[in-house]
Amino acid sequence: MDSSAIVLAAGLGTRMKSSIPKVAHKLLGKPLLNWVVDTAHSAGIHNIVCVLGYKREITEPLVQGKAQVAVQTNFAGTADAVMCAHDALADVHGPVMVLSGDCPLITAETLQKLAKTQQESHAAAVVLTMDAENPYGYGRIVRDADGQVERIVEQKDATAEQAAIHECNSGFYCFDSDFLFEALSNVSSNNAQHELYLTDVIEIARQEGRTVEALKAEDPDECMGINDRCQLAYATSVMQKRINEAWMKAGVTMLDPRSVWIEPGVTIENDVEILPQTMLSGTTHIASGSTVGPNTRLTNTTVGHDCVVDETVAIDVQIDDDCTCGPRAYLRPGTHLCRGAKAGTHVEIKNSTIGQNSKVPHLSYIGDTQMGSGVNIGAGSITCNYDGVKKNHTTIGDRTFIGSDTMMVAPVNVGSDVEVGAGSVITDDVPDGALALGRARQVVKPGWMEKHRESMNKH
Ligand code: UD1
Ligand code: CA
Repeated sequence: MDSSAIVLAAGLGTRMKSSIPKVAHKLLGKPLLNWVVDTAHSAGIHNIVCVLGYKREITEPLVQGKAQVAVQTNFAGTADAVMCAHDALADVHGPVMVLSGDCPLITAETLQKLAKTQQESHAAAVVLTMDAENPYGYGRIVRDADGQVERIVEQKDATAEQAAIHECNSGFYCFDSDFLFEALSNVSSNNAQHELYLTDVIEIARQEGRTVEALKAEDPDECMGINDRCQLAYATSVMQKRINEAWMKAGVTMLDPRSVWIEPGVTIENDVEILPQTMLSGTTHIASGSTVGPNTRLTNTTVGHDCVVDETVAIDVQIDDDCTCGPRAYLRPGTHLCRGAKAGTHVEIKNSTIGQNSKVPHLSYIGDTQMGSGVNIGAGSITCNYDGVKKNHTTIGDRTFIGSDTMMVAPVNVGSDVEVGAGSVITDDVPDGALALGRARQVVKPGWMEKHRESMNKH
């Protein structure tokens, strides 16, 4: 589609009661503004100008490389905001869309329909409208005797009769750009809010004898603007449902989709099962045959085929095929579980490779460790990687057996085919094939208790 878009996002968003601008608030991990910009791109609109203003140091980096930026400084109203994008679009003659930066639920299909309606009708303006159950606060669509859109009246300027209209302005439009920028210079602030209303160009078009079309959104949720955090939560639930239904239709099973939150950058293969209270974030990918959850949070984590990831928190982690995690595993950045590995219950792993079929089943901390394949780490074993100043490395060779409650004081290298006795503190390197014991010898004194009691009784 060959069209351009202006995204209005200069406002502060008073009702969010926030120190950051409204459009920078996130919905399923993505800022509101980016939902709109990304949707425009997926509708095929690549020439995008975002009008930014309030706390631009926060909003501008969000769209860097994705859109041009125009700056509005005086917040004189939506007509003024659009005018601010004029320079950036000076070479554009043809359709230009105006989108609201606080409406994350708009779909690419609707934007395409809006553009198509303008292209087919050559209308000066096409307005996306919606039938709102409660129209309060929205601009009302006033139609003439022939049913044509005559003008848009803002809530504060509406007569009682106009206020009773349920058809509302969604804040999405497709204009003929030459008409738009000329009309904007004729907009006045002679209204209840003393603002320059973009919506006034509709009436200007009709006065000039130009066509104005209206396209009604099938689903009013799509046009929902976020003004406060209650609306943010509602919009999140709508998006959550949309995303989860798409994955279920693609072959993912969910026991309770209402308790599963999947961010838009996540990818999931078919025949994955997602159990309740699971959050999948960032660039997480799950391969087929795996079960994830319950009570699991994965961020930028890849999970291979046929894994079980139960009650696990993982951030920046690679989990290969046939692995098991949890219940209650905490896998921190740089962890790589090779094929068939296990990170069991109450296990924390950071910046470490756990080799093929190696197992860390219970109550362990493994940090900055390179572990070979077929290793077994006994319960309660820990790599002491931090000496109070810096992090130190541990290596453990193939097929090595680390007895329970072993402390490996890094830097230390434990070879292949090694056996370490339970309760050892390993401070020196262990060569391949050795038995290592690093603990005090046990002392046994036969009959000690009887003598002890006798001596107590004397006193
Ligand atoms: C606007 C429409 C109203 C419509 C509603 C839909 C006008 C006059 N009214 O009203 O008909 O029903 O949207 O949600 O256009 N903005 C700027 N600079 C400004 C003013 C606004 O960038 O000077 C941005 C805001 O940040 C926001 C968008 O424009 O993203 C809409 O502005 P807002 O003040 O929320 O308009 P509404 O009163 O909701
Ligand atoms: Ca608004």
